Amino acid sequence: MKKFAIILNVALIQLLILNARSAIPETRQHLLMDYNWKFIQSDIKDAEKQNFDDTKWRTLNLPHDWSIEGEFKEDAITKGPGGYLPTGIGWYRKHLSVTTIQKDQQFWIEFDGVYMNSDVWINGQHLGKHPYGYTSFYYNLTPFIKKGGNIIAVRVDNSIQPNSRWYSGSGIYRHVWLNIAGPVHIAQWGTYITTPKVDSSSATISIRTSIENYFKVTKNMVLRSVVKDGSGKEIATVETPVLLTSSGKTDIEQTISVASPALWSIDMPSLYTLHSFILEGTKVNDNLISTFGIRKIEYDKDKGFLLNEKHIKMNGVCLHHDAGCLGAAVPEQAWVRRLQLLKEMGCNAIRTSHNPPAPEFLDLCDKMGFLVMDEIFDEWVEKKGQVGFSYHIFFEEWWKSDLLSMIYRDRNHPSIVIWSAGNEVPDQVAEKGSEVMRKLVETFHKEDPTRPVTQANDRIAAGDGPAKLPFLELQDIVGYNYVDRWNERRELYYSVDRHDHPDWKMIGTENVSVGGLRGQYSIASDLSDKRPGRSRDYRLGMIQAEQLWKFTSVNDYVTGDFMWTGIDYLGEAGWPNKNSSSGVIDLCGFPKDGYYFYQSQWTEKPMVHIFPHWNWAGYEGKVISVIAYTNCDTVELFLNGRSFGKKSYVFPQQGHSKSWNGYARPYIAPTTSDLHLTWDVSYEPGTLKVVGKKNGKIVTEEVHTTSKPAAIRLSADRKVINADARDIVNVKVEIVDENGLVVPDANNLIEFKVEGEGVLIGTDNGTPSDKTNMKSKQRNAFNGLALAVIQATGKAGNIRITAASSGLKETFLHVSSNNMVIYK
Ligand code: GAL
Repeated sequence: MKKFAIILNVALIQLLILNARSAIPETRQHLLMDYNWKFIQSDIKDAEKQNFDDTKWRTLNLPHDWSIEGEFKEDAITKGPGGYLPTGIGWYRKHLSVTTIQKDQQFWIEFDGVYMNSDVWINGQHLGKHPYGYTSFYYNLTPFIKKGGNIIAVRVDNSIQPNSRWYSGSGIYRHVWLNIAGPVHIAQWGTYITTPKVDSSSATISIRTSIENYFKVTKNMVLRSVVKDGSGKEIATVETPVLLTSSGKTDIEQTISVASPALWSIDMPSLYTLHSFILEGTKVNDNLISTFGIRKIEYDKDKGFLLNEKHIKMNGVCLHHDAGCLGAAVPEQAWVRRLQLLKEMGCNAIRTSHNPPAPEFLDLCDKMGFLVMDEIFDEWVEKKGQVGFSYHIFFEEWWKSDLLSMIYRDRNHPSIVIWSAGNEVPDQVAEKGSEVMRKLVETFHKEDPTRPVTQANDRIAAGDGPAKLPFLELQDIVGYNYVDRWNERRELYYSVDRHDHPDWKMIGTENVSVGGLRGQYSIASDLSDKRPGRSRDYRLGMIQAEQLWKFTSVNDYVTGDFMWTGIDYLGEAGWPNKNSSSGVIDLCGFPKDGYYFYQSQWTEKPMVHIFPHWNWAGYEGKVISVIAYTNCDTVELFLNGRSFGKKSYVFPQQGHSKSWNGYARPYIAPTTSDLHLTWDVSYEPGTLKVVGKKNGKIVTEEVHTTSKPAAIRLSADRKVINADARDIVNVKVEIVDENGLVVPDANNLIEFKVEGEGVLIGTDNGTPSDKTNMKSKQRNAFNGLALAVIQATGKAGNIRITAASSGLKETFLHVSSNNMVIYK
């Protein structure tokens, strides 16, 4: 009986969420409003009107990005920055049926992100305009919503181009929520939780709660704030009588003490929840749950960043918001997979370049233990060269509300440890740049005094017009983009400014990465990339990143580094490429060799990785350099069982022992000062093997010469997914030879078929020049691999995924979806 009741409840919740229908309970509801929107990719007259006929429009679920559904075209108005995809104008309409409305009940609609220039109406009544595509916003529906049928209409205008330096996506590409609450309720983003005093024995938690009273009379109520630990156990409570002014907002400050707190850290990201109740006698007027973490952050000009009094170097990556073939409409599970990969690389910090991310991205960073630099703008007042209609046209009017939206929405996340006011804004060299910097910094400090503010400066010491000193000095931490860009800084990096400005705190906001194409090895330098230092010769591509990392890692005063980029992203490309390949992970989420460079520097667990592949027919007898990234003490290379010798790094230099000129033991004879090892090997087909040793532990990796493609191998990252029309499974495709070895240059055309309760929502292979539609059922492999992303339908059942290719053995796999849906 009990089981039946639970199932019924889930079904009920689903019904509520699917239709965003309101059963109108007394207290707050936060309903996902993603399902069953009508959409048309065109500008339509009168589409905001309630009686407009949209029956012929397409029905879809949000998040939705119409750009990613389009074709890549060289003459696309977005050009290379936008990834050659279409943009334009689109309309969305949602039929919202409300069964009852209680007296004075409050409704508001919340958009996590719409790109861009959105206008929203309810029942033909205009609610507002929101230009910036990356900040969240909400509108009060209360005066206009009615019992029965309602229409929410959204016009999205991404037609004014170019407006972005990278792929933006178009449409309602993040979640939409319907909030319902009583006339006295906690405002949107209305709790602000900080931890002003933290140690292992106790923590003081400061809570500010903003309460709105829509009654025309003053109300006496009680604010009860309950803190629960990660297991849901109540650990502290405080109650405060509150006098709520009529038709107004009142801020209440409370303090709670927690004994022996479980501190939030990157290794143990313990979270707490604050349960807020507004009580009138025994009646609960509102209740809200806010997640937070207890942690202490400090920045020191000499020691860098300290988390809970422990020094941590930020091993960071910059990330854009798209997820390859899914475009900007990214299901949470796509980020789970990507973040897990980054975690395994040893990455502990993410810069959300160059805009605030989706809220669920930050929730994942909280849960998985990443430090986040939350960034607001890529442009302020001054325009960047290439894009005529980007944020500078909105800055004067909108900067404040966009900035407040980010701060209010995000400031409870323990993962966020620093704010960034901008990326490479040309204002850094402009006469009035400091004035703009000052008002941004003042706003950050006023609304969140607990975190420092930086700006990603690319013109510090620029030969052709450096960033102005007052501009830099306004930053709590000076951010360096491409610190090695100018003159002697190629060698001296931050040390020049450290000498001249010993009190500055410094952080590498964006710097060089290894990049390149996954599994692609050019022996001659790639002359097509004319940018200095951008040789894609696999033997040289890592040198600049290595040299910088050596400096960053041994100088504590450098807070850390965010390399450009953790993962490839759409756009910022030049035909015939549609995406940037600066990531160490490709668009499909497959690691490139550079991934292992960072892993070798950022992790302790013994690892060794060698490249290139060993399919060099025609090169017999010629020298091929074999390269290894490792964190082992020594690595030995074997070809077909013959040793090519043991090698090891000189860096970091082994410490001295107590005796005069004596090194710590065991003494390792270094063979290279690089952060990679290399052996020049005369090519013969067979097996390359490396054996790494670290503190008595052994790790190995092998690379084989393969024969020709014989079969397809499929593997899914999950066996069971949620039947909620949101969840996804990532299916990796490998083209293998008759021995099951991945053929490193295979590019066979694969045809996918998905049957049962799943829908194919994207395919990709990670190569920038492949411009096949991202929704295509046919996809060539690239260097042996491809990806298919399948989304659950709303119904539980089996999903069968088949992959076929001419001349190869067809294969399939099963995944199932079930009903265990858990909503926030
Ligand atoms: C940086 C910029 C990034 C990206 C990168 C490309 O200067 O901040 O957004 O454009 O260059 O290399």
